[in-house]
Amino acid sequence: MIKKIALIFGINGQDGSYLLRFLIKKKYKVFGVIRRSSNFNTQRIDDVYNDSKAKNSFKLLYGDVTDSLSVVQIIQKIKPDEIYNLAAQSHVKVSFEVPEYTAQVDGLGALRILEAIKLLNFKKTKFYQAGTSEMFGKSLPPQNELTNFQPQSPYAAAKLYAHWITVCYRESYKLFACNGILFNHESPLRGGTFVTKKIISGLCKIKYKKQNVLYLGNLYSRRDWGYAKDYVESMWKMLQKNKPDDYVICSGKSYSVKEFINMVAKELKMNIIWKGKGLKEVGFFNKKPIIKIDKKYFRPLEVNHLRGNAMKARKILKWNPKNSIKNLIKKMINFEKNEIQNS
Ligand code: NAP
Ligand code: GDD
Repeated sequence: MIKKIALIFGINGQDGSYLLRFLIKKKYKVFGVIRRSSNFNTQRIDDVYNDSKAKNSFKLLYGDVTDSLSVVQIIQKIKPDEIYNLAAQSHVKVSFEVPEYTAQVDGLGALRILEAIKLLNFKKTKFYQAGTSEMFGKSLPPQNELTNFQPQSPYAAAKLYAHWITVCYRESYKLFACNGILFNHESPLRGGTFVTKKIISGLCKIKYKKQNVLYLGNLYSRRDWGYAKDYVESMWKMLQKNKPDDYVICSGKSYSVKEFINMVAKELKMNIIWKGKGLKEVGFFNKKPIIKIDKKYFRPLEVNHLRGNAMKARKILKWNPKNSIKNLIKKMINFEKNEIQNS
């Protein structure tokens, strides 16, 4: 049997690692692009890489989406059936500090891949662009494919360029190119500076006396959180349709950061008492202040409320998330407890 070939930019990130596992199960041969790093940064995919059964199904290559030559050469060499562009400087707050770099990677990165597919005349290569609910910015919920984009950060503005250039290449050159507009999705493999991982890791460490205080920013923004493993399946489903299109992927429910903290605390059987307001708001556990606000975690501009409507994906892709936020929290807590026990 001839295996389909997939190429993933951003393979060692959270989503890349789940997508890799998903595609291997689907019998794909997967090529992943990593950047040279001064230290090891493949922890999320090492188990697959070292698995002898997966040896012939998975290869890594060095490249970078800011480097057109590497992008063209890799695509020319691999001749992929499907390309997933997950590569990004994906932290919204950090994008205010490195806006130009974020535009290079998150905006122009997509253009470089699309232009390579076009230049090489790879008409059969399908392209997935990792778009984001952040592009909706201050548009009110529920957000769907018809909602106006009103980006509120350099990250969202860069992703919006990637979104429209994907549409432009689809319509101009008839490329099979799709935008996934994914709402927040988390997992045990989530990066430690994103709020869900930071809260779960922090509260677990506080409970097991490995940390005293967790410092956070805005507790009142609301997000529509799902499980990354469910969401990567939608990426693949988009590329299996006869026609390329754009889809919102979300759970349809939203919670504030504070509500998320309370759900995690409940699961950990920690009763948190909140006192004070604004920068003076504090969460107490057993009479000790364990959650404090630090203004350094606030953004110059905030996206207040993201809650999506994934009706189109449910109908056309037959995509349905399998995990509730409760399941997600349980999985993340279990992972964290194991990490603490093994440390
Ligand atoms: P992530 O964990 O931050 O992973 C990002 C990946 O991109 C990493 O593998 C990173 O490699 C790679 N990368 C960064 N700059 C690159 C460059 N110049 N060239 C090649 N690779 C580069 O992000 P994620 O949560 O998996 O998200 C995957 C994609 O979906 C991102 O594009 C993100 O913006 C988007 N997205 C995520 C969510 C979410 O809630 N997770 C929601 C909507 C959209 P290094 O390890 O070398 O940095
Ligand atoms: N990171 C972080 N750290 N966020 C905090 C903190 C903190 O200490 N305290 C409060 N927050 C608030 C942020 O202000 C934001 O409103 C919310 O928690 C979620 O922040 P993140 O977890 O950093 O995620 P995000 O919503 O900004 O961005 C994520 O989701 C996007 C999809 O909507 C990232 O994964 C993006 O790459 C993705 O596109």
